[in-house]
Amino acid sequence: MGTRQVERDRFLERVTLYHDQTKHGTQSYARSLGRLDWATQPNPFRHYQGAPLLLLSQLVEGRFGRLAYDELFLNPPAPRTLNRESLSAFFFYSLALSAWKVSGQSRWALRVNPSSGNLHPTEAHLIAGPIEGFTDVSMIAHYDPYYHALEKRLELCPGEWNQLSGGLPEGSFVVGLTSIYWRESWKYGERAFRYCQHDIGHALGCLQIAASLLGWEVRSIDHLDSSQIETLLGVQDQDGPEKEHGACLLAIVPRASLPTSRAPVLQCSEGFFHTLVHREWAGRPNVLSQKHYEWPILSFVSEAIANFDWAPGLPLSPPNLAVSVLPSTMRMARPKTVSEVVRGRRSAVAMDGETSLAADEFYRLLWRLHPDLNADFFCGLPFECHTAMVLFVHRVAGVPPGLYLFCRSHDQGAKLKEVLRGEFEWTVPLGCPEELNLVLLKAGDFQECSRTVSCHQSIAADGAFAVALLAEFSGALKERGAGIYPRLFWEAGCAGQLIYLEAEAAGLSATGIGCYFDDAVHQLLGVEEHSWQCVYHFTLGGRIEDRRVQGLDAYSHLTPQVVAESTT
Ligand SMILES: Cc1cc2nc3c(=O)[nH]c(=O)nc-3n(C[C@H](O)[C@H](O)[C@H](O)COP(=O)(O)O)c2cc1C
Repeated sequence: MGTRQVERDRFLERVTLYHDQTKHGTQSYARSLGRLDWATQPNPFRHYQGAPLLLLSQLVEGRFGRLAYDELFLNPPAPRTLNRESLSAFFFYSLALSAWKVSGQSRWALRVNPSSGNLHPTEAHLIAGPIEGFTDVSMIAHYDPYYHALEKRLELCPGEWNQLSGGLPEGSFVVGLTSIYWRESWKYGERAFRYCQHDIGHALGCLQIAASLLGWEVRSIDHLDSSQIETLLGVQDQDGPEKEHGACLLAIVPRASLPTSRAPVLQCSEGFFHTLVHREWAGRPNVLSQKHYEWPILSFVSEAIANFDWAPGLPLSPPNLAVSVLPSTMRMARPKTVSEVVRGRRSAVAMDGETSLAADEFYRLLWRLHPDLNADFFCGLPFECHTAMVLFVHRVAGVPPGLYLFCRSHDQGAKLKEVLRGEFEWTVPLGCPEELNLVLLKAGDFQECSRTVSCHQSIAADGAFAVALLAEFSGALKERGAGIYPRLFWEAGCAGQLIYLEAEAAGLSATGIGCYFDDAVHQLLGVEEHSWQCVYHFTLGGRIEDRRVQGLDAYSHLTPQVVAESTT
């Protein structure tokens, strides 16, 4: 066996070991500190102190945000010119703050993108050429949601952006995402790596929706590894628990300007990486906590996925059904605007146990979650879909309560039939559009079961339905290598983001559930070994408002004085 194969196998073993070691079980939870040490709580805002701050505009709602949310899918807007206004809207509708919450003496910021524990491990960076009204020079910058601003870290030399972006259409730019594991491990210990990857997936979904509002799309750049991504974003020197780990690079391109069969590439030579390392990057990363707890398994898994030469998968197939054949109930835009849905999105802390969802809304949601039927949304994930959804239907009018399976690619049904319990029914519910591949596995009341497997959280029982995302695991790892492991969580997070948005559009709420008993779900379904593994849970329903918490505007903290101090 060659050394390359030995290394590949070693990394596969590592991620499987990590996955098993970080399962929550009914008898014991994955290792963590077991309490919250408030004195070391990480700062959710990374600032590059000393880097010039270029403020973006928050006044974008009138121009962009009033579009009906459903129009993004029914009649997507034409591509906008890249300028200060459109760039501002792009970040405002993807990764910006969306509110402050106040309860007693506590005050915390919430964002457009959700995050487990609201800890926000994901950081975003921009690589762009000159942008009208914003920058005359090409640059690499960090997005700072606290100020809704870009911190300019490096001016590129003339010609470098053109060289780098040579393979991208005119009007494109690049976003790089990194993850600070410490922010999640502070609370969740060893399971943190999974949550960081979910959050990357949510961020991907957020960027895709904001791009679509501007007539752009997100396409993954897959030929660079984590350390090359880190060099490109100027974080390669960071070390220790507060390090930003390179996750992914995304080309933001005008819609339909790149064939779906072609993955975008950046033209960067070894020489270019070498010069970047030796440049003067502006700004020092702020310290997030005075003290840290180390979880060595996070570096152990991160090395396994970072160093592996991941083989890109097939491009997503184009939508196989034209908009005109959408069922008529899905052809009408609901009244909620993009702003209301995207910036108004909130996780439900409690569900009312009463509200039911109309069957039409349920099927519309599943339709949008199907990568073949809604390819535009999922085009940032450049590999075939690996996650199916097990639905615990509690209250969907016209759909009998029970355990359902929603397959999200054409071959999942056959693969899962070999693996799931032989006694399951596999019947198509009456009234379900046949394109959806939804089948009833077992009729009955699954509220208690859903609560139990979601770490006894009532939100999983008291919604209209709950979801367990089941990923093809050992086969995918074997075929694609260890690098697919985080991508399974990205896929789950990205789909989860759409569940959040669809819930809001339907006047309901959702919540991501990272705390679930992995093997209890596998036992329920009859899954043995590692053929399929549960990678995320979700719930959707009517939320109970927490009246003790008061809301403030997202940027109410940015007084002229704060802005003046930050920019001097
Ligand atoms: C990956 C992930 C896992 C989560 N897990 C849970 C969970 O197990 N239970 C829960 O009540 N909320 C969970 N949440 C919801 C977060 O607590 C919530 O997103 C965060 O507090 C920010 O609030 P927001 O979503 O309203 O912005 C999760 C969110 C994400 C993104």
